[in-house]
Amino acid sequence: MDSSEILRLTDIRDTDRDETLALLDRDAGEQVLDAMAVLRGRLGAFPGGYAPSGSLDEFVWLEAYLRFTPELLAYWDGLGIPAEISAATLADLGRNVDITRRVLGRFGLETFGWLSLHYAGNLFQLGRLQFHLLPHHEDEGWAAPDEWILSVHIPEGGGLSPAAVDASFEEAVAFFGRHFPGKPVRSAECISWLLDPELSRRLPESNMARFARRFTLERTSSSPTDAVYFTFRKRGLDGLELLPRDSSLQRAVLEHLDDGGEWGLGHGHLTLPVL
Ligand SMILES: CC(C)(COP(=O)(O)OP(=O)(O)OC[C@H]1O[C@@H](n2cnc3c(N)ncnc32)[C@H](O)[C@@H]1OP(=O)(O)O)[C@@H](O)C(=O)NCCC(=O)NCCS
Repeated sequence: MDSSEILRLTDIRDTDRDETLALLDRDAGEQVLDAMAVLRGRLGAFPGGYAPSGSLDEFVWLEAYLRFTPELLAYWDGLGIPAEISAATLADLGRNVDITRRVLGRFGLETFGWLSLHYAGNLFQLGRLQFHLLPHHEDEGWAAPDEWILSVHIPEGGGLSPAAVDASFEEAVAFFGRHFPGKPVRSAECISWLLDPELSRRLPESNMARFARRFTLERTSSSPTDAVYFTFRKRGLDGLELLPRDSSLQRAVLEHLDDGGEWGLGHGHLTLPVL
């Protein structure tokens, strides 16, 4: 597979093309080979968390992901994963390189840990949502020990309409039943700022609140910067007075902070539809 094909498959944007190609236009160094060995060890092993980054930086990981793409695709081919689902899933690499440019104003992959989930081969974009297939663990008292769990993620890009979310959950049930028949799933979980109950209080009619209401809220946890990061693509809580208040979400996020509140994460779960 040549470099152009890897860039096409990972949906690297034109603005990031030259710098991405430069990473591939040389022999892989020792650190990149080390990172690829880590990815190889995780492929098909259903790890729950990110690959330990060790001393390797975001550029090493980005190059390793690009170079490892053919091996990931071969693994997915062996599972019979359709090419369009592989492509939709891999497009998160280009999306995150683009987000890095918007957040930091430069080329890179700030969120390199996140992509290590995709490159373990058990996270897929199915319609509007991403689903990460994981073994049951003890925290999930709401699921039977023999069940596998779908952890749900919401990539940016397009609205979160109830119809799109319904279609995505139905696609997920059919997909995992077909491609992972020995790993039965009945429940999904979501850990997100979208499930912070304050968001549904402030914007009860929004798509985001409708999405959150699908889940039974287990608990909340602290993560004070997520709402600002995902709404404004800005790290930290400095300079909030400079941020726009154009949409109802932007106003809700900032007004809660103006009122002395703190944003966090909601942890919720739901029962998947039976087809
Ligand atoms: C989650 C997401 C898809 C929801 O989009 P959506 O379906 O358009 O959201 P809603 O219809 O509920 O939006 C309600 C209002 O908030 C605004 N809004 C939604 N997401 C916004 C965003 N990221 N930035 C600014 N405004 C946003 C909408 O424009 C709308 O404004 P209006 O009432 O003034 O017209 C979107 O926020 C997004 O892409 N977020 C980034 C990804 C993310 O947060 N993932 C979860 C990570 S844990």
